[in-house]
Amino acid sequence: MNLFDVYPLIPVTPVKAEGAKLWDDQGQEYLDLYGGHAVISIGHTHPHYVKRIQDQLNQIAFYSNSIQIPIQKQYAEKLGELSGYPDYRLFLCNSGAEANENAIKLASFATGKSGFISFSGAFHGRTSGAVALTDNPKIVAPCNAREDFEILHWGDLQAVELRVKQGNIAGIIIEGIQGVGGIQVPSPEFLTGLANICKDFGVKLILDEVQSGFGRTGKFFAHQWVKNIKPDIISMAKGMGNGFPIGGIIISPDFKSSYGLLGTTFGGNHLACAAGMAVLEVLEAENLIQKSAELGAKVMEELKHIPGIIDIRGNGLMIGIDLDREAGPVRSELVKKYHIFTGSAASSNTIRLLPPLNIEWNQLNSFISALTQILAQSPILK
Ligand SMILES: Cc1ncc(COP(=O)(O)O)c(C=O)c1O
Repeated sequence: MNLFDVYPLIPVTPVKAEGAKLWDDQGQEYLDLYGGHAVISIGHTHPHYVKRIQDQLNQIAFYSNSIQIPIQKQYAEKLGELSGYPDYRLFLCNSGAEANENAIKLASFATGKSGFISFSGAFHGRTSGAVALTDNPKIVAPCNAREDFEILHWGDLQAVELRVKQGNIAGIIIEGIQGVGGIQVPSPEFLTGLANICKDFGVKLILDEVQSGFGRTGKFFAHQWVKNIKPDIISMAKGMGNGFPIGGIIISPDFKSSYGLLGTTFGGNHLACAAGMAVLEVLEAENLIQKSAELGAKVMEELKHIPGIIDIRGNGLMIGIDLDREAGPVRSELVKKYHIFTGSAASSNTIRLLPPLNIEWNQLNSFISALTQILAQSPILK
């Protein structure tokens, strides 16, 4: 049987990883500034993470949500404490799209409405509801098209208010920082304006922190860079499990739960919770959120001085770099010659940095040198 061929592949086969390093099947070392798409938060094969999962595997790996699973409660407690949302409640699932699917479902149940608003450049996942809120018509199948879902222009508060006033809007969904859209940081005015509209019209504010959560931006959640934003629902995945599939939503105290309202077979299983606990414990013990803020600020400052870079956006270790030329050939050169992985974005001149949060400065600095050299000698790549 062949694989269903949907991924354009980098011609590298990693077989081993540690921290921010990968090794391929030829023994070649690579530096990981992509984190497997923002997934690796506490570093590859972190010893505490490996041990936590191994220990859990030796006890019990899985049983359904029909029995007591104390590690779920321990996880919720710790997450509430570290994220600053101790009074919210947690529903666990398996991926980012699934988290958003549950978020919109819950907002729809709570308001009795079916419409949602998202924004240009947004990526919320590929399941039925989430993909209808994602601004990429190529991945929306005819069966996913939704007339009551509206993708409005990023930053256009007037359009939001106008659409909300027309009625039937259950929720507004926005990324803490747009990832796939090229690291677009919402202005404090935009986020605050959305929160106010939601409050005034009884609409639920959903913060998609799937990519920007778990310390990536130097705060636990990216929206916490803006004062007094309290979303109704926050969706999470990626860095939450450091590679183990786990997602979830945290839910404000205003929502009522009832048996059967949401559900999943695998979500919140023992192994996933052990992986999630390990991530939280390492984030805390190694002060990685603060480190992400500091290292990110330092990288962005250094990048400002490199000729060929025309814009730098982001917070912490979620950084978008716009070049004065196509980013594809530059990223290929980074892999081939300097053995450094970086991420792409929707716009073809953007490089996205999403490294493990325990990356070291000298590793980031080697990327800065490599990029400087490539941009200095590559007018041919324009
Ligand atoms: C902001 C955001 N939301 C949702 C998703 C979907 O997550 P998953 O691929 O785990 O379904 C992604 C994935 O890239 C994302 O970046």
